Amino acid sequence: MALRLGDTAPNFKAVTTVGELDFYEYLGDSWGLLLSHPADYTPVCTTEIGRTAELGEEFKKRNVNVLVVSVDPVEDHHGWVKDINEIKNTVVDFPLIADKDRRVSELYDMIHPNASATSTVRSVFIIGPDKKVKLTLTYPAAIGRNFQEIVRVIDALQLSAKYSISTPADWKSGDDVIVANTISTEDAQVKFPKGVKVVKPYLRFTPQPDL
Ligand code: BEZ
Repeated sequence: MALRLGDTAPNFKAVTTVGELDFYEYLGDSWGLLLSHPADYTPVCTTEIGRTAELGEEFKKRNVNVLVVSVDPVEDHHGWVKDINEIKNTVVDFPLIADKDRRVSELYDMIHPNASATSTVRSVFIIGPDKKVKLTLTYPAAIGRNFQEIVRVIDALQLSAKYSISTPADWKSGDDVIVANTISTEDAQVKFPKGVKVVKPYLRFTPQPDL
């Protein structure tokens, strides 16, 4: 069964480019970003792993531990990572799972047989410090993911985990946020001292509270 938002992200042990790893131990109290890739030594995946490495500082700032999975063997991962570091002038410092027996891919429903019987689609799982699934995305093999969007949504998830807020369409860090409908305008004015703009009783904005 596919994992849904709010489900507990299942734990696993896996062989990776940094040795055998226990997923929960790797996550610790951090957020997690689990990305699947269809195959090593392929063009879209090469650009994506390179981009993930380029954004390493952004993920660290946000306390996000990145983990990548494909069904290729670990020897291939090592050779491919060398290529990526050369091509993109980066250091890939996050582990790549060698999921030869597809245990992780199947646990996370990353193989969609009508797309490909043998390789994973491009899945994204964002997992909270409570090990619950906070966001999922699925892209087909031929379409690279938008990593700015992944960083953006991590910001939105972390903000809404900390404050009683939601984020409007196309929100980006620095924009006003929406006051949750669970709190009254009176309480909101206390909780959000920067001010509350009431557009409609059900649509109230406040400046981003952590800035
Ligand atoms: C790619 O990464 O370019 C790719 C991988 C598998 C299928 C199609 C494209």
